Amino acid sequence: MTFEKQILCIGAGYVGGPTMAMIAMKCPRYKVTVVDINSARIAAWNSNALPIYEPGLDALVQKTRGTNLFFSTGIEQGIQAADIIFVSVNTPTKTFGHGAGKAADLQFWEKTARQILVHATNNKIVVEKSTLPVRTAEAMERILNQNTKNIHFEVVSNPEFLAEGTAIADLENPDRVLIGSQETPDGLKARKAIVDIYAHWVPRDRIIECNVWSAELSKLTANAFLAQRISSINSISALCERTEADITEVAAAIGKDARIGAKFLRAGVGFGGSCFKKDILNLVYICQSYGLTEIAEYWESVIRINEWQERRFVRTMLESMFNTIAGKKIALLGFAFKADTGDTRESPAIVVARSLLEEHADVVVSDPKALDNAREDLKDVPQALSFEVDPYRATDGAHAVALLTDWQLYRDLDYERILQSMEQPAFLFDGRNILDHKKLFDLGFNVFAIGKAPLKHF
Ligand SMILES: NC(=O)c1ccc[n+]([C@@H]2O[C@H](COP(=O)([O-])OP(=O)(O)OC[C@H]3O[C@@H](n4cnc5c(N)ncnc54)[C@H](O)[C@@H]3O)[C@@H](O)[C@H]2O)c1
Repeated sequence: MTFEKQILCIGAGYVGGPTMAMIAMKCPRYKVTVVDINSARIAAWNSNALPIYEPGLDALVQKTRGTNLFFSTGIEQGIQAADIIFVSVNTPTKTFGHGAGKAADLQFWEKTARQILVHATNNKIVVEKSTLPVRTAEAMERILNQNTKNIHFEVVSNPEFLAEGTAIADLENPDRVLIGSQETPDGLKARKAIVDIYAHWVPRDRIIECNVWSAELSKLTANAFLAQRISSINSISALCERTEADITEVAAAIGKDARIGAKFLRAGVGFGGSCFKKDILNLVYICQSYGLTEIAEYWESVIRINEWQERRFVRTMLESMFNTIAGKKIALLGFAFKADTGDTRESPAIVVARSLLEEHADVVVSDPKALDNAREDLKDVPQALSFEVDPYRATDGAHAVALLTDWQLYRDLDYERILQSMEQPAFLFDGRNILDHKKLFDLGFNVFAIGKAPLKHF
């Protein structure tokens, strides 16, 4: 079959894989190839055990793989054949040198740009899919267009707004798709080529066109606003615990205000995921570099509150369990940073597990999908630590259970059975506020939720 267009995606991660599978599904006349330097990851994409867990992803890949969706390590051939190259490589926080701990580490991105430059033999549209600092496209165009091959590269920004756990639904039915380009004739032509891809299935009024800098900055801003809502509600949760107000009731009351809205107002142990913290740190760094100190401090406080909330959760556990947890078995239900993903990057569970281990607790980590990542995250820990996928075995003989991920499975457990198998008094810390606290208390648990008065039998 001859394809109308060849699309390449460099980076077969949480974004590249699902996004390209959706494009392949919706654009059967386009050939979509996803490449990565990580050959094990590519092998997994070509197997029946995909490298990431995401509801609906297996079915999508099965329908398209081998027809118009291909996973490969052939980066060079991929670049040569492609008309449009999406770049979806990781952009972590820099850990060294100038800007360490805040700035985005652009080495993977720049290496990719240089690979494109070396292997390209004709004009290309290069699409920023990774989340990048505002004005990265300018640097990229400079690198790419200083070539002696007479090849023109047009850089377009098309940040990804999918949320892990709901990625397939988000991709199929996005709130919006954002496409930014230079406002030159070549830039507008490139923009149209990207609009044409999404127009296969996204209503035209949800495809937003803008200048390239606005697109880059909108992604950082969206994540900063989302994280800020979590830190805002979490900050009020602490006040609720002191005043007998209930954070669920407060959130429901304020969420009814159309100007505030009801979403992203659930208090909890803190936000995680690979993006919120790194993107805010990046925003902070950019503000600082433009001399906007107050703005940098404002956004940095969102991260400070999140870290404080994680520590506060552990402090509550320690204080309520008579100020000693040494030698006590504590079961962590959930390690992924949210439900329906195996991703544990920046998960609050990492901080909670490490803090409990520092107190010499005997920690058992349970999660339906994230145990491999959890083992990796805690591989340097020498203390008493075990992993158990079965929640009933994980909680057997425990002094306390801490629920850290909002998996549906944990709502549906037989808590009476769990209580019977635990040491007494039995403690339950609901770090996601998803359980029926009154019912658990009536069963005999001492229940500590976020932003609510504790329910204790002593
Ligand atoms: N994970 C999310 O939910 C999410 C959502 C929106 C945006 N983003 C952004 O998308 C980008 C990718 O995120 P991710 O979660 O998919 O990361 P990831 O770490 O899962 O995947 C990135 C992949 O790029 C590959 N890679 C790195 N350098 C390469 C090179 N030179 N050539 C080929 N492959 C290379 C890596 O091996 C890795 O497999 C980041 O900028 C992130 O901020 C992520």
